[in-house]
Amino acid sequence: PPSSSLAGKKIVITAGPTQETIDPIRFFTNRSSGKMGYALTKAARDFGGNVTLISGPTSLEKPDGVSVVNVKSAQDMYEAVLAEFSDADVVIKTAAVADYRPRVVHEQKVKKKDGDWVIELERTVDILKTLGEKKESQFLVGFAAESQEVETYAQKKLKEKNADMIVANNVTEEGAGFQTDTNRVTVYFKQGDVKPLPLMTKDEVAHRLIMMISEQLEKGREN
Ligand code: PMT
Repeated sequence: PPSSSLAGKKIVITAGPTQETIDPIRFFTNRSSGKMGYALTKAARDFGGNVTLISGPTSLEKPDGVSVVNVKSAQDMYEAVLAEFSDADVVIKTAAVADYRPRVVHEQKVKKKDGDWVIELERTVDILKTLGEKKESQFLVGFAAESQEVETYAQKKLKEKNADMIVANNVTEEGAGFQTDTNRVTVYFKQGDVKPLPLMTKDEVAHRLIMMISEQLEKGREN
C-alpha cells in the first residue's frame, strides 16, 4: 500500500522463543516457532516500513529486505531491543520471552547422580514493561499469550506495561497461538476499543494488525 503511514518508519519486531542456559548441554525454552513475528515482519516491510527483526532461535528463513539481529537469551533480547528503541517509531513484541532463568549457569556439564536435581530460577527483565517506562513517541505493541481469562489479563497488561495495543491469543484454542500456521487474536487498544479478529492464517492476522497500527499512527498524526 503506497500511502501507508508506516512508509519509512522504523519498526522493531521481536519474534521466537528465548533460550536460557542451564549448562553446555541443556537450556529452558518455550513453544514459540517465530511464525507470528516473522509474518508481522514481512507485512510491516510490505507496508513500506524500515524493519529490524530481533529474533530468538527459530528454524525460519530470514525475510528479505529487513535487518535481522539474532539473540538467544531474554537478557540478549533486552539489550538488542534497547539498542534499537530510541529512534524506533513502532515496537511490536511478539517474542515469547522467558520470565525465569536458572540462577546458576554451570560452565561444565552437570553429571547425573542419584536423586532429584532442583534448579532454582530467577526472574528475567520484563522488556515490554521497561519499554513502557522509557517510551516517548514510540507506538508500543505487546502480545499476551494466555490460557484463561484472556480479556482480564490483556487489559491488565495494557495498563501495567503502558502499551498502546495488546494482541491477545488464547494458546489453548485450536488453531491459535504457538506453532500453528493460523491464529485467532483479539486486539485491545489503549483508548478502550476491543477488536476481535476471526481465525485466519498468521500472514492474514499480521496484515490486519499492521493495518491497524498504520491507522493508529495516522490518527495520532491528526490529533
Ligand atoms: O511464534 P509462534 O509459534 O508463531 O507463536 C506465536 C505466539 C503465541 C508466541 C505469539 O502470538 C504470542 O502470543 N507472543 C507473546 C508470547 C508471550 O510471551 O506472552 P506473555 O503474555 O508471556 O508476555 C506478554 C508480553 O510481554 C509479550 O509481548 C512479551 O514479548 C513481553 N515480555 C514477556 C516477558 C519478558 N521477560 N519480557 C517481555 O517483554
